[in-house]
Amino acid sequence: MRTRKILAFLCALVLIVGLCACDGGGDAAVTPTEVPSPTSEPTPTDIPATPTPTPNPLDSVSIKDLYKNEFKVGVALPNSVIGNAVLKNEIVTNFNSMTLENESKPSSLLDINASQKGLPDTYTEPKVKFDSLTKGFDFAKENGMSVRFHTLLWHEQTPRSFFTEDYTQSGTLVSREVMLKRMESYIRQVMKYVSETYPGLVYCYDVVNEAINPGDGDPNGLRVKSSFWYQVVGPDFMEYAFAYARKYAPEGVDLYYNDFNCYSKKKQIIDNLTPILQAGNIDGIGMQCHLDTHSSVAREVKATAQEFTKAGFKVQITELDIGTSNTESGFEAQAMKYKVLFTQIQKAKQEGTIDIDCITIWGLHDGVSWRGSEYPLLYSWNGLQVKRKRAWYAVVQDPSIRAIEY
Ligand code: GLA
Repeated sequence: MRTRKILAFLCALVLIVGLCACDGGGDAAVTPTEVPSPTSEPTPTDIPATPTPTPNPLDSVSIKDLYKNEFKVGVALPNSVIGNAVLKNEIVTNFNSMTLENESKPSSLLDINASQKGLPDTYTEPKVKFDSLTKGFDFAKENGMSVRFHTLLWHEQTPRSFFTEDYTQSGTLVSREVMLKRMESYIRQVMKYVSETYPGLVYCYDVVNEAINPGDGDPNGLRVKSSFWYQVVGPDFMEYAFAYARKYAPEGVDLYYNDFNCYSKKKQIIDNLTPILQAGNIDGIGMQCHLDTHSSVAREVKATAQEFTKAGFKVQITELDIGTSNTESGFEAQAMKYKVLFTQIQKAKQEGTIDIDCITIWGLHDGVSWRGSEYPLLYSWNGLQVKRKRAWYAVVQDPSIRAIEY
């Protein structure tokens, strides 16, 4: 009995000394009562809770897959974003259409120096260069994305020198006949290069961008004052542009007219484009959709797209972004607007009232948006990585985001 007591005392002593020795490691002191009995099975309460973040099941959704039965989902990308390996996975997971933000515009493709130097041969055959397309088109091709080409004719990002006798910025404007030849040559060279170098990659072209601006002096609402196309060729320049585009576009490639605030000028758009549609030279209307949280999806987007569909045009939303304030409530309102837009347009496509082919978001993350101070895109950017915003979850139809607009 006495020996047992001594043994028990010695055991307790060993245990206490052992525990004290462990205490030096910086861990919280453990009292003997907390030591689990070595023979008993650990119960759930014995296992310390590990704070693992709960994965959001929506994180495994791919935007492009979610809408694959209704329309493609695109993103506009500048070369700087395309080159960023960190962003690649997010891009190819979520988008199946791509627009080069600036690299396929006339200011990027026209080789004005070579056109000047090459005179008189280049007088009606401007020189065109294509290196700005390589990075983006290669990326799209390697990653199974289709490309919407933006844009052949535009009054902006097209130097005045394209329209002058000697290809200088201050030269004399050429005649209508010469400009029509330059127009045809430019469209032919671009479409030939693209279809030969990247067969099947480009599925649609914006042939003309932003040519309608009611109140600018033309009886049919065409843009006049800032457009050299209008001033040099005349009010029928769009008919020629679409006829040339049809002549050189590969079979099955769609031709689009693209504009902003379409709801405010839908009558002029339809009236100006209907003869071109009847001639078989246009397929669709691109609605840019630079919106904010007060824009009405029902009126500005859905009803307008329905009218274009009724008039016989395909539709695309080509430059979607939704500006907001840098506050939690602002981002929630933005998410609601994105959800309303995607769900309403999806429903209208399913019901057959909008013949829509693609919705393109105008940029990947707020850090590269042309409206950066309005945080209009689906991702934020911390300088190293993108983060999905509420707006991203809205597009994948997160049930916690209400799809209503006021
Ligand atoms: C217009 C053009 C786009 C782009 C934006 C501003 O909407 O169509 O190509 O230049 O302006 O980024």
